[in-house]
Order: sequence, then structure tokens, then C-alpha cells
Amino acid sequence: MQKRLFLHATALAIVALAATNSVAQDNKFKIGLILPMTGQQASTGRQIEAAARLYMAQNGDTVAGKKIELIVKDDTSIPDVTKRMAQELVVNDKVNVLAGFGITPSALATAPIATQSKTPMVVMAAATSSITQASPYIVRTSFTLPQAAVAMGDWAPKNGIKKVVTLVSDYGPGIDAEKYFKERFVFNGGQVTESLRVPLRGPDFAPFLQKVRDAKPDALFVFVPSGAGAAVMKQFLERGMDKAGIKLIGTGDITDDDQLNDMGEGALGVVTSHHYAAAHPSAMNKKFVEAFGKANRGMRPNFMAVGGYDGMRVIYEALKITKGAGGGDALLAAMKGQIFESPRGPMFIDAQTRDVVQNIYLRKVEKLNGQLHNVEFDVIKDVKDPGKNK
Ligand code: PHB
Repeated sequence: MQKRLFLHATALAIVALAATNSVAQDNKFKIGLILPMTGQQASTGRQIEAAARLYMAQNGDTVAGKKIELIVKDDTSIPDVTKRMAQELVVNDKVNVLAGFGITPSALATAPIATQSKTPMVVMAAATSSITQASPYIVRTSFTLPQAAVAMGDWAPKNGIKKVVTLVSDYGPGIDAEKYFKERFVFNGGQVTESLRVPLRGPDFAPFLQKVRDAKPDALFVFVPSGAGAAVMKQFLERGMDKAGIKLIGTGDITDDDQLNDMGEGALGVVTSHHYAAAHPSAMNKKFVEAFGKANRGMRPNFMAVGGYDGMRVIYEALKITKGAGGGDALLAAMKGQIFESPRGPMFIDAQTRDVVQNIYLRKVEKLNGQLHNVEFDVIKDVKDPGKNK
């Protein structure tokens, strides 16, 4: 009971402080960027921070008369830490926008803070379908697993893959990937013979892959979060699964551009579905990849970076539209319905769902100029999150 009262009092304090926000802000506009900068998801933090800083370097740090201040916090991808940091950013730093969120549990833990304080929360990474329903203040610039997985459920059975085992990280995005891939794949006449789930933290893929080898499906469909793909690829190849005739397929998280070039030639030919590839052949993307590399000692941007870059665009544009005068509700309204060209291709923030509508590409790992890349060979245009129709 005491705990409840305390929580209630904290919530009220957040609301009260947030109400004075616009007065206290004077000429600053603060973005609280909460990311995993250390630990298992550190590559996500590194990519998104670099992209956010690139966006600011390219577009200036003064918008509508306000000086933009980026406050980066490392939540080590522990949801309780994310939530505490969000609370401190809102109450102490009086941020105008919360952003980042490397994994689904971190985004979900923070959603009530966004709602109570009426602070727009831009989800740049986490990709479970339901996240945008956790708070009316959430806007997403990453993707959803159902968006990507359904495309693979259509492609695989048309390309000789009839029997599949799925292997996913056992939490929100993995369960979404498993469910939406399977539903579409089975609808198209495929068969999922087994669905395996591995723990998110410190997974050991070996026993699971042995099981898959014994089952001998046409393909193994995998979702693991960005940063974990290389470990799966290594063990898949070490076990000679490819030589045993088992194909590796999945959403593009598995052939993550952050790690792909170090995965070795064994990765050649792997087909995935995703919303962004560093090799996306548009003029805008070429410029983005080049500038990102230049600013970060040759680092190649991955899909997390593009979520961060576009998230900054959505925030900057909302500030411009509101002429620097609006509070959380005005900013949120100005984020809804934004439509623009992203390095990934055309992008749209659906005003109803606050979720991203975008192209999903089918890509195959090939060599381009001596480097391993996800090379796009087909596109499904303007895909809405299929999770929102349920
Ligand atoms: C998530 O936790 O929502 C998540 C993390 C990494 C990914 C995709 C989804 O690559």
C-alpha cells in the first residue's frame, strides 16, 4: 500500500513538473537519448548515437530559435534502469523529448513515464509490434518484426523452402517474428516443424542448432536482436549446417550491417527481409553511408543507425512545425503523419498508429567491391505493421 502511494505521488510529481517544463526550458530544446552503450546491446547504442550526432552535424543544433541539447544516457539495456533514467530526464533535466530504446522491455518500461508526463517518446530501435500501443505518446522510427517476417513468409515457399524450423530470442520481437513468419508461411503451404526459443541474455545456440541439424529442414528461420547475428552465423557454419543442405533465412537482424563484413564468406547467399541495407542504392543513402563512415572511422551504418537518424529528423521537423513554441502534445501532433525520404527509402509515420510505414526489401548477401553486403533484389512497398490489424 505504501509503495502504491509512493508511486502515485511520484507520478503526480512528474505531471506537476512536466507542466512547468515549457517555462523552465527557455531557449533550449532537450532530447533525452537513452541507449544501451555497454553490455550485450552496445552496438545498438554506438550506432544510434553516431547517427543522431551526424544528423545534428548536418542540420545544425539550432532549430526554430532553440538550441538542441542531446543528453545521452547508458541504460545497459536493463529496463528498470531505462525507466529510472527516463524519470530523471523528465523531472530533473526537463527534457522535451525522450528517445532511443534499444530493446523492447526498455521501451515498455518507459511508456508510463511518457504518458504521465506527456512527453513524446521516439522509439528508434525496439521493434515489437505492440510497443506503440503502450502509450499514446510513442512514435516509432525503427520497424516492426511482423513487417519484416511476413515478407519472408511469402518469399520462402516460392523459392523451394517447404519445411522450416524457427529459432528466435524468447521475448517480444522474437515471438512476433515466429508468429508472423509462421502464419504467412503456413498460409502459403509451408510447414514449420519446430519452433525453438533461446534466452535473450547470454544465449548458447549450440544445443539448439544441433537439434535443427538432426531435424534437417529446408531452412532455419532466425530472429536474434542486432549484435547477436554473428554468433549464430558462426555456429551455423561451424556445425556445417549449410553443407548439410539447410538454408539460413530470417529478418535482416541476422545479417546486421554492423557485423556482416566480419562474418566471412560463409554468409554469402543468405536471404533476409528487412527495411534497411547499407547497400540500398539511392543517392540519399549513398551520401548517408559515406558521411556516417567519414564521421566514425569507417563504421558502416546498420538499421539501428537509420532508426536514430530518422528519429532525429522527426523531432527536428516537429520543432520546426511548432515554431519552438509547443509542449509535448503539440510536438506529438507534429510528429504524426510526417512523410519523407529516409536513407532506407520512403517513410511515413502513420498518424493513427504512430508507427512507421515503409518498404520491406528482400536481400541476399553478396560481395560488393570486396565487401559483404545485403544486396536488395525485391521490394514490397509501403508495408504497414501487420500486427496492428489483429
Ligand atoms: C527489440 O528488443 O525490440 C529489438 C532489438 C533488436 C532488434 C530488433 C528488435 O534487432
